[in-house]
Amino acid sequence: MKTRALYTGSFDPLTNGHMNIITRASKLYDELTVGIIANPSKKALFPIEEREIMIAEALSCLGNVKVDHFSGLLADFVNSHGFNVVVRGLRGATDFDYEIQMAQMNARLFNDQVETVFLMTDPQYSFLSSSMVKEVHSLGGCIDGLVPEAILKRMDEVLQKQA
Ligand code: COA
Repeated sequence: MKTRALYTGSFDPLTNGHMNIITRASKLYDELTVGIIANPSKKALFPIEEREIMIAEALSCLGNVKVDHFSGLLADFVNSHGFNVVVRGLRGATDFDYEIQMAQMNARLFNDQVETVFLMTDPQYSFLSSSMVKEVHSLGGCIDGLVPEAILKRMDEVLQKQA
């Protein structure tokens, strides 16, 4: 059976921690889709259409990875698109408690053949989150090496516009 995996999140912005999970997952599965969620409860720096373009550019070197977006229930997106794996990254123990609840709830909602699979985040990125890079960058701190260069450039442009 062809393995069609989904890695989902807000990716506002995509960080090198996400890139690390995506690169590793792309080697494990036939196809990997990065599914950007439109999450109305989070104030976004980049509109979802722009995130989709930036992420597709950052991942263009990975032949079996594509980018899509969705809103609503994750399980509906997974079932209707025929994914058989949902990849999640675990940065540490605090992620685990939330992730296990989400995986168990999703297991009730997914079609039978869908599994949630966890990859341990590379330790060099275990402290990282999109909100943290946004906050540090907006206050003038250096985030070199934490986000792809093209994304850092766009963040610089947005910051200059706001100034
Ligand atoms: N490297 C760097 N950062 C990471 C990371 C990694 N490997 N893994 C997670 N993060 C960061 C993210 O950037 C995010 O940071 P932020 O909160 O500052 O934006 C944070 O950790 C949380 O990530 P995540 O748990 O992936 O949250 P999310 O908002 O990006 O996405 C969904 C969560 C999409 C999986 C979840 O909200 C969802 O499924 N929503 C759909 C509705 C639904 O079905 N609900 C029922 C679920 S049972």
